[in-house]
Amino acid sequence: MQIRPAAALTGALLGMSALFLPMATPTAAARTTGHGHHRHPATVAHRGASAYAPENTLAAVDAADDLGIDWVENDVQRTKDGELIIMHDTTLSRTTDVEQVFPDRAPWNISDFTLDEIEKLDAGSWFGPEFTGESVPTLDEYMDRVSDNHQKLLMELKAPELYPGIERQTLRELRREGWLDHRHKRRLIIQSFSADAVRTVHRLRPDVKTGFLGTPAVADLPEYAEFTDQINPGYKTIDADYVAEVQSLNGAHRRPLEVFTWTVNDGPAAVSVARMGVDGIITNKPDVVRDALDEAD
Ligand code: G3P
Ligand code: CA
Repeated sequence: MQIRPAAALTGALLGMSALFLPMATPTAAARTTGHGHHRHPATVAHRGASAYAPENTLAAVDAADDLGIDWVENDVQRTKDGELIIMHDTTLSRTTDVEQVFPDRAPWNISDFTLDEIEKLDAGSWFGPEFTGESVPTLDEYMDRVSDNHQKLLMELKAPELYPGIERQTLRELRREGWLDHRHKRRLIIQSFSADAVRTVHRLRPDVKTGFLGTPAVADLPEYAEFTDQINPGYKTIDADYVAEVQSLNGAHRRPLEVFTWTVNDGPAAVSVARMGVDGIITNKPDVVRDALDEAD
C-alpha cells in the first residue's frame, strides 16, 4: 500500500496531542484545537473530505489527512460474494461508471455485483477528471489507509437490513486487522440508523464504542443509552436543550452520552451547533468547520 510520509507524520503528531491535551467536555471524543485554550467539538470528515475528493474513496481519506483532520466517517456494505466495501448508496450508479461498464445490470445494486466486478469500476471520474481510476475500497483497504494516516474512524453500517450478519462480519474483519485491540479500539466508533444493528454490535462486542443515527424522543433516550454511547442527529433536528438532555444520561460505557451531529457544511451552522454543546460535527468541509470554530473563539 502507498504510504505518504509527510501526511502520516502530521497525522501521528495530531493523534498524539489529542491523547495528552485536556478534554473539552466530560466526553472523550471532543478535542482541544486552535491555540490550546479552547475546546472544540471533534471535526469528522463525512465520507472522507467529500467536498474535495470522491466520497468514500481512499482519496477522500487522504484529503482529510492533508487538511490535518483526524476523524473520518464512512459507510460499509456487502457485495454479492460477501465482501465488505465502502460506499454510501445501496446502488453503484451515482458514484461509479457502472452503467457504462455493465449496461444490462440495472438497477445496479451493490448486492448484485461481485467484488471482482466492482473492482473494474471507476469511482473517481464522476467527481473530477483528476480522480479517474480511483476505486471502490474494500473495508480492509480502507482500514489500512486510516491506520497509515493515524486517523480515527466513525464507521456506519449502511442499510444493515439488506445484509444479514454484517455486524458480526464487520467486527470479525476489524478484529483480524487489529482494530479491536486495546490500543486501537479507542479510535473507532460504529454507528447506524438501525437501532437493531447498534444493539447487535454492542451485544457482540460490548467494549466497542457505538452511535445511533437519529433523533429519538427525549423520553426514549434511556432505552438507547443501554446499548449506545452516542446519539447522532441531523443538525436541523436539535437545539441546546436536546443536546443537554442527551448528555445528561450515561451511555453504554457509563460515560455521558455524546452527540455527533451531521451534515454541517458552513461556518455559521458549525458555530451554532458548537454553542449547543455538541461533541462532534460531521462535515463534507472539515477545514471550513475547523476554521469557523477557531475564528469564533
Ligand atoms: O454520519 C452521519 C451521516 O453519514 C448520516 O447520513 O446519509 O450521509 O449516511 P448519510
Ligand atoms: Ca454515513
